Amino acid sequence: MKSIVILISGRGSNLRSLVQACAAQAWPARIAAVVSNRPDAAGLEFARECGIATRIVNHREFATREAFDAALAETIASYAPDILALAGFMRILGADFVRRFAGRIVNIHPSLLPAFTGLHTHQRALQAGCKVAGATVHFVTHEVDHGPIIAQAVVPVLPDDTEETLAQRVLAREHLIYPMALAWLVRDALYIENGSVRVATGEAQWLL
Ligand code: GRF
Repeated sequence: MKSIVILISGRGSNLRSLVQACAAQAWPARIAAVVSNRPDAAGLEFARECGIATRIVNHREFATREAFDAALAETIASYAPDILALAGFMRILGADFVRRFAGRIVNIHPSLLPAFTGLHTHQRALQAGCKVAGATVHFVTHEVDHGPIIAQAVVPVLPDDTEETLAQRVLAREHLIYPMALAWLVRDALYIENGSVRVATGEAQWLL
């Protein structure tokens, strides 16, 4: 039975999709805790309703990024997680933190990486005239939004799209690929070959 800790900062719709998939698909895993850097993150309420332990490590209470990272790492380590899933977690994690949980941290990013790392991905995709957009689940390394890619989903960009309509279309796909990718991790079905993430034969892989 794998132990998963999920990190959030806000709404928590990806958190919801992971919690629901874990239960519905009977993963050999449990969500040990949801940790937020913001006390007002809406996702905390959902976690509480599900009976999942919640913890807040408020970045505003720390003088330095290193001090915040260290407190966050200690809180997380107390749950001895096998997997650390960032789900709309809006703080950049330092190299020491990433090293401590290396190979166990995954993130979902709302663009087709390596395009549009960082913020405002949908606005930038629209400005660039992209005809497709999407989302990426990847391993977290010390370089923000750059780790090995686990899964991606593509959506069309429509002529009358706004940032909001595009974000909505991408988010619906996020809710499919993140549970898919986490299920692979839970089942130890991922390995890295020549720098690329591969999925073990026999695992369900949807083309999205
Ligand atoms: C998602 O778009 C995710 O890709 C990005 O932050 C957003 C979080 O949304 N990293 P939610 O809190 O999961 O609803």
